[in-house]
Amino acid sequence: MDSRNGPASETPLDAEIESFFDSAPPLKDCAGIIKKLKEFIEFNSTPPGKGSPRRVVCVTSGGTTVPLEQRCVRFIDNFSSGNRGATSTEYFIKAGYAVIFLYRRGSFQPYCQSLPEDLLLECFECSDDSTIQVHQPHTEAVKRAVRDHHALGCQLLKLPFTTIFEYLQMLQSIAMSMRDLGSHAVFYLAAAVSDFYVPWESMAEHKIQSASGPLDMRLVQVPKMLSALKKEWAPMAFCISFKLETDSNILLEKAEMAREKYRMHMVVANELSTRKEEVTVVTGNERILVCRDKTRADSDVEEPLIELIVSRHSAYVKDSGL
Ligand code: PMT
Repeated sequence: MDSRNGPASETPLDAEIESFFDSAPPLKDCAGIIKKLKEFIEFNSTPPGKGSPRRVVCVTSGGTTVPLEQRCVRFIDNFSSGNRGATSTEYFIKAGYAVIFLYRRGSFQPYCQSLPEDLLLECFECSDDSTIQVHQPHTEAVKRAVRDHHALGCQLLKLPFTTIFEYLQMLQSIAMSMRDLGSHAVFYLAAAVSDFYVPWESMAEHKIQSASGPLDMRLVQVPKMLSALKKEWAPMAFCISFKLETDSNILLEKAEMAREKYRMHMVVANELSTRKEEVTVVTGNERILVCRDKTRADSDVEEPLIELIVSRHSAYVKDSGL
């Protein structure tokens, strides 16, 4: 295993995973990230005063990119706005969890959903040299975002990624830092993760020239890290992965296969066009349909989804006796 990512595990990772980490460009400020994780986990598992230890969930959110050049001009992207991860984070925090939010730079952020996406500066006006005021229609949304951001600073750790290399190296560091939390640790893997990548050593250094004619490039399969996460990095953690398909006829079957193959506790199956209305949670022998409350205009599917996950996680903690 790559020593850049913290202590080596006792069981060797399988060759594919090892080769992915060996050839990945080193993560910037890896030591700083590990320090932040350690402090955040320590703080939340032994909060000051009479507070009881918090359960910790790692929420992954947004899509990973695959660079095509080392000095990257072009890249392949994976679809995900980050809405699922950001909204779910808010409900996990409301349920008392501490959240490590591993998100794609520029994707949706918790507590910012009601702020205008592209026109943030339109929320504000300068009344004189020293005073900035919030325009009336945005007052409540800005107040909520600022208030929650400050109040929840110690319950939310945000770590950004862009590439598949950064994402997987950070996921590994997070998982290893959460290992000692045992069954109190949760992984909620909503990020859209690249399935194919160009290994760093076979990647062009400079911008690929179009004058050389059509581009012929070999992409290698990204090893599924779910098995390493479950078997080696954080074996006692409660793990929820996602399955996204555009063809609803194959969705549930593929979700069930993923649950069995990677021994996930739950797989959340969603179809691209209806993902904001409903999801099906595949767990054990059950298929549980979870829907947004359509009688409320401001409802979302994440609210009942996180409620279900929290109750199943509580049962898991109780069963594991820790
Ligand atoms: O962000 P939004 O716009 O709100 O959309 C949310 C979503 C549709 C992106 C989200 O709900 C979702 O389905 N995320 C997972 C998408 C995905 O990558 O699905 P997949 O079938 O390719 O992967 C399944 C699981 O394997 C994922 O949990 C992924 O983390 C994991 N994986 C994937 C590839 C890989 N090489 N290693 C992995 O571990």
